[in-house]
Amino acid sequence: MASTRVALLGATGETGTSILNELLKDDKFSIVALIRPSSLQKPSVQAFRQKGIEIRGLDLEAPLQTLVAALKDIDILISAIGPMALLTQIPLATAAKEAGVKRFVPCAFITIAPPDGIMLLRDEKEKVYNHIKKIYLPFTVIDVGWWYQGAFPKLPSGKIDYMTGAGSMNLLCLDGNTPSALTDLRDIGKYVARIIVDDRTVNKYVFTYNEVWTPNQIYDKFEDMSGERPLRKYLSEKEIQDDIISVKQALDANPSDTGSMIMRFIREYQFSWGIRGDNTPEYAKFLGYISSKELYPDLEFRDFGTYLKEVLDGKATPVYASSKDSLTDLVAG
Ligand SMILES: NC(=O)c1ccc[n+]([C@@H]2O[C@H](COP(=O)([O-])OP(=O)(O)OC[C@H]3O[C@@H](n4cnc5c(N)ncnc54)[C@H](OP(=O)(O)O)[C@@H]3O)[C@@H](O)[C@H]2O)c1
Repeated sequence: MASTRVALLGATGETGTSILNELLKDDKFSIVALIRPSSLQKPSVQAFRQKGIEIRGLDLEAPLQTLVAALKDIDILISAIGPMALLTQIPLATAAKEAGVKRFVPCAFITIAPPDGIMLLRDEKEKVYNHIKKIYLPFTVIDVGWWYQGAFPKLPSGKIDYMTGAGSMNLLCLDGNTPSALTDLRDIGKYVARIIVDDRTVNKYVFTYNEVWTPNQIYDKFEDMSGERPLRKYLSEKEIQDDIISVKQALDANPSDTGSMIMRFIREYQFSWGIRGDNTPEYAKFLGYISSKELYPDLEFRDFGTYLKEVLDGKATPVYASSKDSLTDLVAG
């Protein structure tokens, strides 16, 4: 059987690794990793070569015909590019159209939120989706809820600082009772592997998630499991809005201030899923998403309780290991 040629942008990142690991398990896919020239010598890219993954060096700012040439034999293009480079996908989509790529999965992979004014991160992604629609390129948008890996509190004993970072402040939004959909980062690839060969998902938005929890439920469960009482600091809507205003001011003064940009992403996430309550299956359905629960009722995902045990047992894998203090502390709030 002819294999499906999948090009993956962002394969060295957290989401990209999840997708790569799952696609590698399925013989029907042959994978090309699109790597920017400055990263070609990274140990992770060397490891891809050793696994027999085809590597193509690609500068996303290269002339259009260079991008087209890199995609000419590709059936499906998936992007898991980081949040700071989302708009580089616009010329990539143009090239994918010209190269005859059959489906583009642009980098979505966030929580459910409406476009236009709630989350800058969503709005940047939406610019890419709009471009894809304008050029009539088949696509699938896949959002995933909030990662398990950023959804639990730091413990007073410091026992799980290897996951949360020492500086986490255990912030809950409002009264901590807003439900929000969660997914194990490692399961994202499982969903993607199903979705990209499923005709029902062409030109659709798909919401994949494992379980729905409120922050208080998570803290209660973690208290029971650990025997410790994590600090609960409740953030009001005004505190979140004030933080968003001040990071916007910092970004007006210095648009390349990465720390403020990350803080803006985090506080807008919290506003969306913690205050507005956007990140739920019901709201996803209202916005027109198809649910992974309806599409793949047989798909086996990791449950959150088992994941929390892995964390407590010291067996979980930290995300963003190389930039842990600056990112994981913020993600964990
Ligand atoms: N749902 C959630 O809870 C959640 C949490 C975090 C992130 N996300 C979303 O997931 C998406 C992926 O984020 P992530 O955290 O998984 O990514 P990440 O770990 O930061 O990795 C980013 C990837 O993009 C690549 N990249 C960055 N800039 C590039 C450029 N100019 N040209 C080519 N490649 C470039 C990086 O390659 P190099 O190796 O070359 O640097 C890396 O492979 C984001 O857009 C974000 O919005 C969602």
